[in-house]
Amino acid sequence: MSEELERVLERLDATSDAAIDRLFAFLKIPSISTDPAYAADCKRAAEWVADDLNDMGFDARVRSTTGQPMVVSHDPGVSSDKRHVLFYGHYDVQPSDPLDLWETPPFEPRIARDPVHGDVIVARGAADDKGQLMTFLEACRAWKDVTGQMPVNVTVLLEGEEESGSPSLEPFLHANKDELTAELALVCDTGQADRETPAITTMLRGMADVEVIVTGPNRDLHSGMFGGPATNPIRALTRALGQLHDLQGRVQVPGFYDDVAEISDEQRAQWDSLDFDDAAFLADIGLTQSDGETGRSVLELIWARPTAELNGIVGGYTGPGTKTVIPSEASAKLTFRLVPDQNPEKIVESFKAWFEAKLPPDCKVRYNSRGGSPAVGFDLGGSDMKLARTALEAEWGKPPVMMGCGGSIPIVEAFKSTLGMGSLLIGFGLDDDRIHSPNEKYNVSSFRKGARSWARILAELAVRTD
Ligand code: BES
Ligand code: MN
Ligand code: MN
Repeated sequence: MSEELERVLERLDATSDAAIDRLFAFLKIPSISTDPAYAADCKRAAEWVADDLNDMGFDARVRSTTGQPMVVSHDPGVSSDKRHVLFYGHYDVQPSDPLDLWETPPFEPRIARDPVHGDVIVARGAADDKGQLMTFLEACRAWKDVTGQMPVNVTVLLEGEEESGSPSLEPFLHANKDELTAELALVCDTGQADRETPAITTMLRGMADVEVIVTGPNRDLHSGMFGGPATNPIRALTRALGQLHDLQGRVQVPGFYDDVAEISDEQRAQWDSLDFDDAAFLADIGLTQSDGETGRSVLELIWARPTAELNGIVGGYTGPGTKTVIPSEASAKLTFRLVPDQNPEKIVESFKAWFEAKLPPDCKVRYNSRGGSPAVGFDLGGSDMKLARTALEAEWGKPPVMMGCGGSIPIVEAFKSTLGMGSLLIGFGLDDDRIHSPNEKYNVSSFRKGARSWARILAELAVRTD
């Protein structure tokens, strides 16, 4: 290890309390992107992180979009003989409801003692993605403080709409193509294999969404006066959606699996070698058996198979007591997780055609859909992947696991298709971090070792391989 890197790592260890204080300040800002009531807080979070980047000697600006602002920063010490990377993260967070399930308020970060993990940071965004993105920023700060410069040229792009599907991002990438294109994107928004084992994520599932709103009679009706002949839109909706999967868990929309490839024997062997414990994974969420396509393992279902999921359903009377009503309208929100080669628009269109054919003649249907983003996979043999493996192995004492990922990060595909840039997805989250759930946490050790990992990865990447 170079003497410089050694000093950078020492610096990270010596300043880790201050780093936690900074993260706490960031976590206190409720930057919930999906709810317009928090627009000012999103702006405040963008300003906070831009100020922090400027404090460490970057040149950051908050850039407005039609949605939440972007933060873009460049390194004024840029040098043309160094490689150039783009770091991406998101400063927005998921809504914190249901509030009553939080042990302490979601935007009042605290350190708690976890029986399994030791000290953990508890707050909305602790892991997803404020804690994770700060691991990278802390590594940059330490490099700058110790050596006065970064080992590679770093552009930072932080968005505030990841949790609401990144609608402004594609236009922003198009409009600022030259500015944002680097040799490689680094993303810190994924997980590691377990507490002791780092990972590089080699694929992300894509996503498509659709809301269906079914109407029947022209007004809400008395269910005694009209019940029998009158079409009930809740019944029509649930009858159709009840047929979305067969008893083997397969999605019934025609063509849904047309573009889905089976995983290679090599891939299956690599995943089998991880000795993933399906039963333990299910037990952790209070379940005893997989409810996905039969005959496929948990890892295969999450990493390599598409899904059609019902995320919410409403209709009629849901208040206290009973109300004898046949409502005029019922609706449901669905999302599809996609695997490589599935086209989000095509999936939504096939779903609509399938759904309409299942409705009784007097029901009408409207849809809302924001589109989606395709899945993305990466080349395992790339030289940057090798450099990152070396750096992670040096920090963790064992090589990283090559993992799939069931979640989606819409921008990553756009980096490839719009900017022609590959991505390295390295994160330090764990399956039990409760991201998107009450009492979200991030292990203090993930935060510290995450920053140390990035410090090392930056040093490795500085070695030119072309
Ligand atoms: N960080 C997650 C994606 C993720 C989840 C990575 C689990 C690794 C493990 C990201 O913030 C996220 O939640 N994405 C959304 C995207 C959607 C709103 C378009 C998702 O996957 O639901
Ligand atoms: Mn995230
Ligand atoms: Mn998320």
